[in-house]
Amino acid sequence: MNRTTAKKEIARLKELIVYHNHRYYVLDAPEISDAQYDRLFKRLADLEKAFPRLVTPDSPTQRVGAISKDKFSTVTHSLQMLGLENAFNAGDISDFDARVKRYLQMEGDIPYVVEPKIDGLAVELVYENGRLTVGSTRGDGITGEDITGNLRTIKSIPLVIDQARAGGVPDYFEVRGEVYIGKSGFVKLNEQREENGESLFANPRNAAAGSLRQLDPKVTAKRQLEIFCYGTGIVKGIEFGTHEEVLNTLKKWGFCVNKEILAVAGINEAAARCECLSGIREALDYQIDGAVIKVNSIELQRRLGTKTRAPRWAIAVKFEAQRENTKIRDIVPSVGRLGAITPVAELAPVIIGGVEVKRASLHNEDEIRKKDIRIGDTVVVERAGDVIPYVVSVELSLRPADAKEYLFPKECPACGSEVIRHEGESVYRCIGLSCPAQLKERLRHFAGKAAFDIQGLGAKNVDQFVDANLLHDLSDVFYLKQEDILKLDRWASTSAKNLIDAIAKKKEIPLHKFLFSLGIKNVGEFASKMLADRYKRLDKIYPAAKDELKEIDGVGETVADSVVRFFADENNKRIIQRILDAGVNVLPPEEKSPEKQPLAGLRFVVTGTLAGLSRSEAKDIITRNGGKVVSAVSGSTDYLLAGASPGSKLDKANKLGIKIIDEEDFFSMIGGA
Ligand code: IVH
Repeated sequence: MNRTTAKKEIARLKELIVYHNHRYYVLDAPEISDAQYDRLFKRLADLEKAFPRLVTPDSPTQRVGAISKDKFSTVTHSLQMLGLENAFNAGDISDFDARVKRYLQMEGDIPYVVEPKIDGLAVELVYENGRLTVGSTRGDGITGEDITGNLRTIKSIPLVIDQARAGGVPDYFEVRGEVYIGKSGFVKLNEQREENGESLFANPRNAAAGSLRQLDPKVTAKRQLEIFCYGTGIVKGIEFGTHEEVLNTLKKWGFCVNKEILAVAGINEAAARCECLSGIREALDYQIDGAVIKVNSIELQRRLGTKTRAPRWAIAVKFEAQRENTKIRDIVPSVGRLGAITPVAELAPVIIGGVEVKRASLHNEDEIRKKDIRIGDTVVVERAGDVIPYVVSVELSLRPADAKEYLFPKECPACGSEVIRHEGESVYRCIGLSCPAQLKERLRHFAGKAAFDIQGLGAKNVDQFVDANLLHDLSDVFYLKQEDILKLDRWASTSAKNLIDAIAKKKEIPLHKFLFSLGIKNVGEFASKMLADRYKRLDKIYPAAKDELKEIDGVGETVADSVVRFFADENNKRIIQRILDAGVNVLPPEEKSPEKQPLAGLRFVVTGTLAGLSRSEAKDIITRNGGKVVSAVSGSTDYLLAGASPGSKLDKANKLGIKIIDEEDFFSMIGGA
């Protein structure tokens, strides 16, 4: 493809992706499947790789940018970002309405808008000529932090306004809203953190704030952050009549506006709507801690004006805190899907926010120590994120004399294997390969795409086989019998035979995939590959000592430690042997044949300033693809890779008739590597 066609295709793909992004992330109404979307995205990314000079900052592929230095720079908001005064009950709400009327010297109903008060972090987004230029936190309302790089990773924030849909936007405008993490995203994030031995976020608000304050946008991009926009700062050239109009305009411009927002005729309806929001709070997938009542008319808002930190035209109606006191009857260890052992408090049942709570995770040993939690204590329990009960603190004054300290088990309560606590981690883990508590997850991983890739052995079937006692450890997969499967629900002879055949087909596996399939803690695909390349054979890895392992690129202290411990466990070795005895053939890593590499045998000279990569990166790519880099142009040079200001080498190459290529040609030679 030449540059002109590529340019057109890139523009077309960008527009399509922006459109589908909006359908998916803002309207929640996708028109194409995830796979179709991924294909569009990959096609754009591939083209941009081949033509790096055609990449622009507003491309959907450029959401994740560079790491910030040691801290964020500050941004002064052009209009102060105000806070809200609070109302706690019906009396406070009607007082607010009375104050509004008194101030305006008006009688009769005041039209309001009622919005959920999203429990996240307020941000401001600045758009110039339809492009997001600055994104910042609220900070103290006057100055905030510049977190543009992190906000760009949130897919429901448009990097560029789709002018066709928006019908034109002002040259300059500011949008305000609340960045949050949904309840399910929050639960998943904390589960991951628990597995990784990291400290947990107490609630979705802290999770959102912590995620937005990451210096590396790659970390932010992994958190499931979203935004609801609820207002504007400066908008050049537009006078809005009502707040409703503001919200509708934001929607039209492509921003996410909460669906539960409602315009009402007066304060009674507003109060009723707050009640209603409080009632549906549990069912929403995001945490709200109240409702906001806002005067709908912008003219009235202007007349009411603001006090020092909050407007007179709006009030936050706080919902009741969802926390209660209760007693810890016992603390019991529970083994997670990946072997993490979590102490769980068994509580005297208590109703919090309409839901009975009997248990609360105490997370790990350090948390118990830090909060000094003992069996018999009375504790404050909160339903963080309305989802997970969480022990906030101990009521020390109520501690009984016989309160008992909790001692962490030395053995896994599910299988009796050793439990270990890695350095720098706060969780204990069971390392047993056949631990029943971890079995289902291990089997799913074992049969998954990046490991044995067994068609038909997905999560549902794994669960069914484990529940039916057909699988007790990983090796059992290769000893499954058709007649045993046939006895189970949902299975017929063809389907059972297909599965047995699919398993038989996978009896050859490269060493790195085999290592990965074992689910050794901290050993991901990359470390597996490095181990396989270094040792070539499984039995050579068994005796490897920690110091030797640490010498391998990509293997640090933690990985080395996990590998040694894993292979020191006799039961783990027995299971691996049983897999091999079933006829599984573990293949040594393939030596890449030198002729197959795209630049095999070619000699390159690199000169000038390249746009998309440094000279040393280019040299590295050449050698990795089988080519050779030489410093001086001569008759035996095959290509001169020339950037800007190439100097005398270009003249010499021209004289000698040597092929001169730019980065785009170079990338197409190596197939966009
Ligand atoms: S309006 C002048 N609307 O609550 C009006 N704020 O306590 C300023 N918040 O800083 C804010 N949901 O972080 C508004 N629908 C909503 C909101 C909302 C959450 C947060 C926001 C603000 C804080 C004020």
